[in-house]
Amino acid sequence: MAWSRLRTSAARRTILSSNPRHFACSLSRVPCNVGVRVWEIRDLYPRRRIPRTSMKESWEIRRASLHDVDDLASLCKAAVDPEDYVIEHLEDLVLLGVVHVALDDDRIVGMMHYSPTIDGNAWLGAARTHPRYRRRGVASALIQSFVGLAARSRVHALRLWSSASNPTGMASVKASGFREVARFSRVIRPTDKGSPVVPLPFDMDLVRDVADSAILRLCNGYVPYGRYFVALTPANVHLLASAGAFYRVAGGITVVSRHPEEDSEESIEFGLVAGDAAKVLRGIPAAAGRLGARTVASFLPHDPKLLEAARKAGFEIVPWGKEAVLFERSVEVGPTSYRKRRTFAEIAAGKREGYAALGLLAGKHDHGHTGPHEDRWNP
Ligand SMILES: CC(C)(COP(=O)(O)OP(=O)(O)OC[C@H]1O[C@@H](n2cnc3c(N)ncnc32)[C@H](O)[C@@H]1OP(=O)(O)O)[C@@H](O)C(=O)NCCC(=O)NCCS
Repeated sequence: MAWSRLRTSAARRTILSSNPRHFACSLSRVPCNVGVRVWEIRDLYPRRRIPRTSMKESWEIRRASLHDVDDLASLCKAAVDPEDYVIEHLEDLVLLGVVHVALDDDRIVGMMHYSPTIDGNAWLGAARTHPRYRRRGVASALIQSFVGLAARSRVHALRLWSSASNPTGMASVKASGFREVARFSRVIRPTDKGSPVVPLPFDMDLVRDVADSAILRLCNGYVPYGRYFVALTPANVHLLASAGAFYRVAGGITVVSRHPEEDSEESIEFGLVAGDAAKVLRGIPAAAGRLGARTVASFLPHDPKLLEAARKAGFEIVPWGKEAVLFERSVEVGPTSYRKRRTFAEIAAGKREGYAALGLLAGKHDHGHTGPHEDRWNP
């Protein structure tokens, strides 16, 4: 008979009291005179079965190459579905940035992508963990590997976005120390025909307009640029102006970027920076048309009034980006270290003078005729 079925029966009590092991146990742990039965104590302290998956595991992480593309596609199919948008970009992800994979023996069970951004930070994306390996720290390990890469590359911040409707994605990035910095909505519409537009040069007026922008206050100063987001600090205003990214549209300011790996004629990405939002939104389709694109897309600050103005200007909200939450995580970058020990070539050169010393320090393919190449001693 099953133990649970005996739980309240007299038969169970008989078994307990007649079994010497149970008896000894109850004698040593529970004094007989407290009037508490063993099974009542068990009910007070239910047995917690700690699943293997909740224990910290370590994962072997390596960089993916083009050889892994088929396995990465299988992983995406299992992690999301056969239509996962990441699948058609896998080769680009491997070639334009760094894809790290987590391995169970030789099997790829998780992936994530890291790409440097124009402002010297990095963007994470394409997080995929095989369903059978979830909640075992795979995504956390991949993020940690990129924190290491960022620290070694002197990158101070990692950013990524997750849909507010993806609680798993939101929970996993928060668990890895990311904090929300802004919310956006993805919008898109066809372009119009329009008059010429010119890029805005860098000057202090531009910096002031950006600093005073009411639009940017809605999104904490971040704008979409390329496939990521950038904080419009004065330094980044200078950077983007030098890249020719700012355009005056309908008296306001926009930031424009393209996706060079795609057909640049097809689509253009813009960010709302400053001005009268409704007017700028109405002017953008013609400006984008003039820049040669057929569709124009953006991440707009997730603000009801602004999104209503976008709707009136003919933009549609894209379902997958209805509420895109931008996250950021700072990275501890150690102090710059300078090499203090002299190399063998420097020591040898110190014992000679003139041309012979220079020869020792020069590369072996250069005019130096003596000594090893300095780099052989400084791998
Ligand atoms: C999101 C995803 C990558 C997370 O991968 P994962 O390897 O399971 O994540 P981790 O095991 O590293 O999770 C770390 C922490 O995140 C949180 N977390 C992850 N999944 C969670 C869930 N389903 N519910 C609640 N918290 C969760 C937990 O705090 C977890 O730590 P714990 O297990 O010790 O409690 C995975 O679920 C996935 O591939 N989803 C489909 C694709 C996707 O949504 N990508 C993310 C886009 S932002």
